[in-house]
Amino acid sequence: MVLVEKTYKKALKPMLFRFDPEAVHDVFVSLGEKFGSTPAGRQLIAAMYGYRGADVSKTVDGIRYETPILLAAGFDYNGRLTQILASMGFGGVEVGSVTAYPCEGNEPPRLKRAIESKSLVVYKGLRNEGVDRIIERIQRRGVQQGLVLGISIAMTNAESSATLQGAVSDYYTSFKKLNDANIGDYYTINISCPNVYGGESFTDPDRLHTLLSRLSDVECQVPRYAKMPISIEWGQFRQLLNVLKEFDFDGAVVGNLQKDYDELDIPDEAPAEYRGGLSGKPCRDRSTELIKKTRDYCGPDFTIMGCGGVMSPEDALAKFDAGADLIQLISGMIFEGPHLMRDIAGALAERGQ
Ligand SMILES: Cc1cc2nc3c(=O)[nH]c(=O)nc-3n(C[C@H](O)[C@H](O)[C@H](O)COP(=O)(O)O)c2cc1C
Repeated sequence: MVLVEKTYKKALKPMLFRFDPEAVHDVFVSLGEKFGSTPAGRQLIAAMYGYRGADVSKTVDGIRYETPILLAAGFDYNGRLTQILASMGFGGVEVGSVTAYPCEGNEPPRLKRAIESKSLVVYKGLRNEGVDRIIERIQRRGVQQGLVLGISIAMTNAESSATLQGAVSDYYTSFKKLNDANIGDYYTINISCPNVYGGESFTDPDRLHTLLSRLSDVECQVPRYAKMPISIEWGQFRQLLNVLKEFDFDGAVVGNLQKDYDELDIPDEAPAEYRGGLSGKPCRDRSTELIKKTRDYCGPDFTIMGCGGVMSPEDALAKFDAGADLIQLISGMIFEGPHLMRDIAGALAERGQ
């Protein structure tokens, strides 16, 4: 096991980090898809990265997670990895964010590494193949046993969604189609995606109210969560939580990318002219703080998925201690290696959770 970790840190990562991050991501998704397509491929990955220790499974909102660790939205944005992620120690994946229409995303470069700061500067702009294609793929391939399928829904990054009405109807279209097709064990409404037409338009409580009021026309039998912004004041955050509660949302993912560039350890790593939200370590403390406040404010029955800057088992435990029921990550897996999920599960088992 130590060998797997050392190989990643000493050999694989230095080589991979020489190439364009989006190109590396595409190669890894294709490889994951290949390994996931055969039992032998899945077994090999499970032997390298799978978790085989004491039971750390958890049931949240009636859904059983083999491990309480999910791949956050934005990595498997087209739903191509639903056959492999359980072999890597993930209890779930949030596919997407999915939008009503296919979207190329923003102009490249869309991704940059801030290596010393353990962060990615993300300017993707919701690149994805659109809800129809993603539903068709998941229906055709199915989902690996032991993997919970969450679907993150956002609005198409196009001029048509720049008006309130256009944006709301975009979310509604995806939500309705997914729900009708019975795809997804839960849904997350991504209300906080930066770098899209019209800005982060649903972090305003009135606009969020309009959106959720329209989405409540869909009779949904599975849990609904919202992906929260972290770069806003607690007062505004609390107002957004009030709207979620008014519409009986089951919980929230806390939270999305960090917009405050002062949180970078090395500010020069992401020059101001390079637009984008920050993932990884710059999200860590703010998201943990907001998890704690959300738990105190919303009480024990409100589900919290802790997300942002989980780079180590200690970071994960801090999120659980702050009140998270489950955690999500992307950057930790990239900067520390794909053994991170197994290490986190091991740390939870050691604590008897
Ligand atoms: C490349 C990339 C793309 C992302 N795209 C999305 C997205 O489409 N929808 C979303 O809700 N969050 C998206 N995010 C945000 C992540 O889900 C997560 O909130 C953020 O990266 C913090 O977690 P981390 O520090 O573990 O990476 C993206 C993040 C990255 C790194």
